[in-house]
Amino acid sequence: MRNTFVFTIILLCCIGCHRQPEYRIGVSQCLDDAWRQKMNEEMERELLLHPDIRMYKRIAYGSNELQCAQIDSFISERVNLLIVSPNEAEEVKPAVTRAYRAGIPVIVADRRVTGDEWTAFIGGDNYRVGELMAEWVATVQSENSQAGKHGSLHVLEVAGLPGSTPATLRHNGMMDKLTELCGEHVPEVQTVLGEWMKEDAYRMVTEYLAEHKDVDIIVAQNDLMAIGASEAVRANSSYGAGSVRIMGVDGIMPGLQAIIDGVIECTATYQSRGDMVIETAAHILAGEPFVRDTIIETTMIDATAAYALLMQHEARLHDLQTLHIVQLRSDNLWQQMRSGRRRLITIIIFFFLLLVVAIVALLYMLTHLKTEIRRDILPQLEEVEQTLETIQLSQRDIAFGERMKQIVDDHLTDPNLNVEFLSSSLRLSRTQIFRRVKTVAGKGPLEFIRERRLLRADELLRTTDMTVQQVALELCFSSPGYFTKCYKDYFGHLPSERK
Ligand code: FRU
Repeated sequence: MRNTFVFTIILLCCIGCHRQPEYRIGVSQCLDDAWRQKMNEEMERELLLHPDIRMYKRIAYGSNELQCAQIDSFISERVNLLIVSPNEAEEVKPAVTRAYRAGIPVIVADRRVTGDEWTAFIGGDNYRVGELMAEWVATVQSENSQAGKHGSLHVLEVAGLPGSTPATLRHNGMMDKLTELCGEHVPEVQTVLGEWMKEDAYRMVTEYLAEHKDVDIIVAQNDLMAIGASEAVRANSSYGAGSVRIMGVDGIMPGLQAIIDGVIECTATYQSRGDMVIETAAHILAGEPFVRDTIIETTMIDATAAYALLMQHEARLHDLQTLHIVQLRSDNLWQQMRSGRRRLITIIIFFFLLLVVAIVALLYMLTHLKTEIRRDILPQLEEVEQTLETIQLSQRDIAFGERMKQIVDDHLTDPNLNVEFLSSSLRLSRTQIFRRVKTVAGKGPLEFIRERRLLRADELLRTTDMTVQQVALELCFSSPGYFTKCYKDYFGHLPSERK
């Protein structure tokens, strides 16, 4: 019973123990645009290889305050690692520093924070992105001069959020490279702030174009702002179709489609590489060596490359769908297993309870039976036993009576017939002779002997010619007078009056 109980408990514990993820990672994203969503997807996919890690994601929607508060709540939740894509470097730095000082490893992704209190950084080569922009501007300028259009170009830069490091680095990279490539013919560059958003870019470019009719090139620091700028150009009647050449940055959807559709001309790749971020996180959590500063390369994408990338993108989408279906199926399977396991636990608990109830009922019945046996059956048994004993006893007594009667009857004429004689013939003590003769004959042994002699005397008097004296002597009475007295006491009349 005890073993069954212990076994069941162990079994329940084993089944009940579902392995919880060992590590919790907090992800703080500054925005929720297509680029961020792609990065999140890449991280989620990579996490399929790390079932011991669970990711919790929060989005700051471009607010430094919200992002700091979200990081602080990750700190108080004691996540095992933090991934931060800061909205603005200086403003988000204090929260990142707090996390780092609280002993939480921090991976800064894409945009940097100021200072160096972080564990690892993974992001694109923003300075090089700026250089690519400059190289494209220089190419356009030389194409123009070859076409007979001399003079510097008028470039409009649509910059991202000024406090975010990619915005500064891309600007610096572009300006430095323009100086290097164009020398004294450095194009005139004006900057408007699009803050990384299509709508802001549209608004800012619209306002700018209303004042300036001579823009040749727009370099937007991301594809979304490039598309917004393109819409602003098209909405301005002073600019003819294709009169302004536009470049963006990122090289993912919807930028690639915009290039193929002729909305913008080209873009520079800026990869999100969420997979790399998770890989680094896994190394840090496992205490393995990792690269502290990872800079991802960039390259230029024109219409041909955009078309190739789009095809790749579609193939990737198909792969993702397949992966999603596989994931759904495995989730389903897992669900089924979980509910199967739950059912098994219920069945085990049910049978366990049934066992307990059965044992309790059995114990109750046993105790009840015991009391009943003690109260009703035992006395009855005792009675039966006594009756049996009595029966056995009376059978023995009858046999004893027969034997005794035989011995007495055989020795009626023997003067030695007395208690001692019976005691030695029947091999019983005097006391036993007295007790047993009393039991079977209802009288003492002497009385019994006398009775048998009187009955024989009566028979002799009736069947023979013997006198009273002769019979009294024959049957060992001490005198005829004593015989006469005994005879009268027994039969109620004198021997001489016998019938
Ligand atoms: C996405 C994004 C990208 C840009 C990057 C800069 O939120 O705006 O378009 O390249 O951030 O940090």
